[in-house]
Amino acid sequence: SQTDEGLGAETEAEKRSREALEKQRQKEELDKKEADIVFEDMDFERMEEPPNESQNKRMTTAAEKMNGETPDCEKMTLEDSDDVVTPWSVTSSSAAGVDYDKLIVKFGCRKLTEELVERFEKVTGHKPHPMLRRGMFFAHRDLSAILDRKEQGKPFYLYTGRGASSGSLHLGHLVPFIFTKWLQDVFDVPLIIQMTDDEKFLWKDIKIDEAKKMARENIKDIISVGFDPAKTFIFNNLDYMCPPFYENVVKVWKVVNNNQARAIFGFTPEDNLGKAAFPAIEAAPCFASSFPHVFGKRTDLPCLIPCAIDQDPFFRMARDVAPRLKYPKPALIYSTFLPALQGAQTKMNASEPNTCVFLSDTAKQIKNKINKYAFSGGQPTVEEHREKGGNCEVDISYQFLRFFLEDDEKLEEIRQKYTKGEILTGELKAMAVAEVTRVVLLMQERRKTVTDATVEEFTAIRSLAYSY
Ligand code: TRP
Repeated sequence: SQTDEGLGAETEAEKRSREALEKQRQKEELDKKEADIVFEDMDFERMEEPPNESQNKRMTTAAEKMNGETPDCEKMTLEDSDDVVTPWSVTSSSAAGVDYDKLIVKFGCRKLTEELVERFEKVTGHKPHPMLRRGMFFAHRDLSAILDRKEQGKPFYLYTGRGASSGSLHLGHLVPFIFTKWLQDVFDVPLIIQMTDDEKFLWKDIKIDEAKKMARENIKDIISVGFDPAKTFIFNNLDYMCPPFYENVVKVWKVVNNNQARAIFGFTPEDNLGKAAFPAIEAAPCFASSFPHVFGKRTDLPCLIPCAIDQDPFFRMARDVAPRLKYPKPALIYSTFLPALQGAQTKMNASEPNTCVFLSDTAKQIKNKINKYAFSGGQPTVEEHREKGGNCEVDISYQFLRFFLEDDEKLEEIRQKYTKGEILTGELKAMAVAEVTRVVLLMQERRKTVTDATVEEFTAIRSLAYSY
């Protein structure tokens, strides 16, 4: 072969460069193998049935992508449907919104089945929250393991978070927090809430002070959901980054390489370094040792994370690294997105005020926004509507009622009557206005009582009402 022939003639310098090249090649091979781990270790040990064909296919595709040109989350997501779901963008080509069943397969999480909801009720003794009964919380990872712990009286905690990109929360942000508050009441466990002011600083064109200020305003909104200060620790990253937390961040950094981060999050070489570093900061609160003032020396407490499904990439990564850090894997319970007023093709976006209802909107603004913008599944004329009926699946007013109207029977009656054309679009909108206004005004009442001192109370480094 060529190498054999050339051997005698090889100079010292040539030998060194050949060895360096060989070393580089081996390293690349190794990186590639490590990168595959993320896709291979998708919790198959916990799966009740073996991964199906499409999951296998998708994993190879994702792994293959990394050998070729720049991997790109959005491109990967676009492959088999027109839905894009990443932590930074959610769009669908369908008026009925994202195809969540496909997303479950794509992300490799589990469907939250009726049986599991029944088990939830049995174990906790609580009637499931409307958002759980109606499938707004529709997917999970390891929820059964958390129910096992509840049954056995073993400790765990709740973790969720918020990246403030506007001074006020909107209705979509409220969904996971309303549900988390209910979970806190049902489970009676500590709750950790992370405010990612650092994330917003890195991603948006804002100053550090602005990011911190928005986080603080959002904390007030979050407190207004009704969390118990004896059981809740809220922190913003830019102020809390302390040694135990930072140690977990660097531990995560050490076991995830650039190829993996790119494959999971779609980062490109042009992205600033902070973006690539950030996922470890959202992953670190999954580990109890990040909060010694709450959990003492315990490192073995798992958490349950209620959030919207777009955050899954962070926690896929956290679950993947957990065993290597000798920590339990976080469990997840995922919600669908509250659709934008204009239709379920996108979720509410705080940067576009007309797509959402803010918690700071007045009753009049809410009424105007819903009447003017809420996409209707009704027919163009009253005659046609009476004859053909409306389509609840795409109707945003109906979708809002699904999230916020508590009475199951009333909701079902509305659905049937609207579908038959007995209820007109204007009437349906009026019901949505009434429900949304009720929720928002309630929040505004509570918010009036939240002062800077209340924020200090929730963010103070302190122990909570639990000892370990
Ligand atoms: N990245 C999230 C956002 O932009 C904020 C966040 C941090 C979060 N930690 C979390 C959300 C845990 C859900 C669960 O809103």
